[in-house]
Amino acid sequence: MKGSDNQSIYVVAICGSLRQGSSTHAALQIALSAAEEAGAEVELLELSKYDLVFQGSVASESEYPPGVFRLREKVKRAHGILLGSPEYHGSFSGVLKSALDLMGFDEFENKVIGLVGVSGGRMGAVNALSMLRTVGTALHAWVVPNDVSIPNSSQAFDGNGNLHDAELTTRVKAVGKQVVEFAALRNSAE
Ligand SMILES: Cc1cc2nc3c(=O)[nH]c(=O)nc-3n(C[C@H](O)[C@H](O)[C@H](O)COP(=O)(O)O)c2cc1C
Repeated sequence: MKGSDNQSIYVVAICGSLRQGSSTHAALQIALSAAEEAGAEVELLELSKYDLVFQGSVASESEYPPGVFRLREKVKRAHGILLGSPEYHGSFSGVLKSALDLMGFDEFENKVIGLVGVSGGRMGAVNALSMLRTVGTALHAWVVPNDVSIPNSSQAFDGNGNLHDAELTTRVKAVGKQVVEFAALRNSAE
């Protein structure tokens, strides 16, 4: 599929790390650059910019900060969603789960999701990815089969946010590209 066919596709990436210099953030940038090359409009959503609160922590939804509604609107508008998370204690990050718990079928049903995980250890972000896949399915989204895990995160990137490993770069890019391609297929079927 040519990039020009995908111009109406909007892909957002939600970063499950708030850390300055986050490797999850860097990995999502690589995936998003591939999505953009495939013709999509792309945006990286940094959860620190949305004043998020915990699900159920206010008496009614109308009391949520405006940021919650801004985040929901962006994800609702998206055809494809990249979820990126560090491996935290054998799962994905709480900040990402808390953000996902503020959303639901309105934002995710029938959307295409791509997954990117990073881990400090050499085993990779396998648990984070597996659990994110389960959450994506619970939200009735289509999680693309190929996901990517970046182990040894503190040594994996150079100072410019590029991965040292060319094969890993190709795999991260493939996730971004697949999300655009499958989102375009879904879009054309509607
Ligand atoms: C609370 C916490 C739990 C972690 N748990 C794991 C873990 O179970 N396995 C692992 O390999 N790395 C673990 N790490 C290391 C992170 O996966 C690693 O530092 C990663 O790069 C953080 O992502 P970021 O660079 O995007 O902030 C943990 C880090 C933190 C802060």
